[in-house]
Amino acid sequence: MSILELLRQRFDSALQSLTTDTAPLLDMIRPSQDARHGDFQANCAMPLAKQLGRNPRDLAAEIVSQLKLDDLCETPEVAGPGFINLKIRDEWIAARAFEIRGDDRLGVAEAAQPRHVIVDFSSPNVAKPMHVGHLRSSVIGDAICRTLKFAGHKVTSDNHIGDWGTQFGMIIYGYRHFVDEASYRRDAVAELARLYKLVNQLSDYHAAVKSVPELEGRLKQQQTELEQQESSADKSDKQATKKLKALRKGIEDTRSALRSAESKIAEVANDSTLKSLADAHPEIARLARQETSKLHAGDSANQKLWDEFLPACLEALNRIYEQLDIHFDLTLGESYYNPMLAGVVSDLAEKGLARDSDGAVCVFIEGNAAPFIVQKSDGAFTYATTDLATIQYRVDTLKADEILYVVDKRQSEHFSLLFSTVDLWRPGTVKCQHVSFGTVMGDDGKPFKTRSGDNVGLESLIEEAVSRARLIVNENDDRRETPVLSDDERQRVARIVGTGGIKYADLHHNRDSDYVFDWDKMLATSGDTATYMQYAYARICGIFRELEVSRDSIRHSKSPVILSTPEERALALQLIQLDMAVEAVLADYRPNQLTSWLFEAAGKFSSFYSACSVKNAESEELRQSRLILCDLMARAIATGLSLLGIETVEVM
Ligand code: ARG
Repeated sequence: MSILELLRQRFDSALQSLTTDTAPLLDMIRPSQDARHGDFQANCAMPLAKQLGRNPRDLAAEIVSQLKLDDLCETPEVAGPGFINLKIRDEWIAARAFEIRGDDRLGVAEAAQPRHVIVDFSSPNVAKPMHVGHLRSSVIGDAICRTLKFAGHKVTSDNHIGDWGTQFGMIIYGYRHFVDEASYRRDAVAELARLYKLVNQLSDYHAAVKSVPELEGRLKQQQTELEQQESSADKSDKQATKKLKALRKGIEDTRSALRSAESKIAEVANDSTLKSLADAHPEIARLARQETSKLHAGDSANQKLWDEFLPACLEALNRIYEQLDIHFDLTLGESYYNPMLAGVVSDLAEKGLARDSDGAVCVFIEGNAAPFIVQKSDGAFTYATTDLATIQYRVDTLKADEILYVVDKRQSEHFSLLFSTVDLWRPGTVKCQHVSFGTVMGDDGKPFKTRSGDNVGLESLIEEAVSRARLIVNENDDRRETPVLSDDERQRVARIVGTGGIKYADLHHNRDSDYVFDWDKMLATSGDTATYMQYAYARICGIFRELEVSRDSIRHSKSPVILSTPEERALALQLIQLDMAVEAVLADYRPNQLTSWLFEAAGKFSSFYSACSVKNAESEELRQSRLILCDLMARAIATGLSLLGIETVEVM
């Protein structure tokens, strides 16, 4: 049980005689922000006093007199208007640190009520290369799976790949008309990616050409309207100024749409090969859509191509997952649910949840303007239908208690409709949560793109991280009197540092915020980075090597933990609370709770290490105790990072 849970338990007993509703009060026991106010603070006396019409300081004193905390805390202190400050006893901290010194789980208990949680993450649309946009879902989802598992839950990781969408119609069309056989044989995925891009480009070209006259007409009309408004408007009329502003904004929007259309046209028009392809395929967008429809309708030629393309696409994905050390229990893509879609729609209709609306079949959710479309008027099923079928499968066949969707926050509308529909369709069967996240930005403050405006490919991003890390590893090892790492070892460390850097940089941000991708910050050897943590780990391993002490023997040491300085105390108190960090991650699926805990621990370790000599400790007992703290710290880093999907190395 974590310290916080223990404290809450004790407070719960003490509060029984004062109120029946203790839960919100217990929630007000928190770690102190300021060490001068003790280790924990309980702010529950004030709201309770208000409720009971009593003096808060008196009530705080009464609560303290009821509390049975002697074994765990020093005498609680009532401060200010009625805060209760709690300081954990040194003996208790030392005993707990001693107790967990040999525990692989560092004192983190397994969940009393394990749940079966399905984590739907990564889930890229295949047939196009994975790009930086897929990084967050993959990395956050993997960290959540690892943390849930560590906490004792049953976890099924499921890569719900988009393998049944319109992109397949595009590559089928592309393959039939533009394939370069030799390239396809050499590297099928690269060739399919080229075809996808080409079909997209040609479709965009025709759409742009078609849109220009309309846009020009609109611009002219908007300009005329603006002129009229400008000449007639009364400057002091607020309404009129507002209208002027809106008109100017409308003109700006039309201009930017025109610019974008013109650049799409230019891309093709300025390239004679592309231009002649475009001219030869004026109906490309419609025909590519038709290929998708044929595939969905069971056309055997298209199905055959799909069967051929898919393994190649999966192989390309797996190369990346391998590099990132991310693995899935299941990879059930959208295609898997295709046979179940019609059944879902008829079941919804039978239960009176879905009905016809302009030829489409929709679920209408109260309080929501947009309907949830489960079948379009042309008969096609949608992303929504597939997600409903997937939930049905996950509940009925996989027996999920909870489903997490680690998906970009731009899809929150979809998930809110999906979950509301499930609440009506299968009430009380499963708990669903959208674990949403923001965008990876470039240093220009816009979504991270290459200089030419393309998405940043994930494979090249990882490659670059590893080669940058390699330089750091080389430099570090070359600085040694005699370098200790072989070429292979350097490369292995570089992979661990490079991918760890990318992952940590992502995970240490609050997942809902956007963040700026920054190579230098990511691989910095100081600050809140994986590299810093990995160095700290290797350095502690180095201490043990230097002193010729085995870490294993320390874990079985009978020597007590001694907290002779405030730094030792602060470090030990932090290290015995990994359980709270894990709990904080799982409360709302936020891995940054764990990175903050790690970073705080590293800071406390560094204060400890500069204040307390291990080698020249005043006594052998103290030396042993400090070695226990060092080993605990190393294991806290290794365990903490492993929950984030990041490896450590003993020498780097
Ligand atoms: N393939 C989708 C996309 O790239 C994400 C799928 C997320 N999972 C789900 N069950 N909807 O946007």
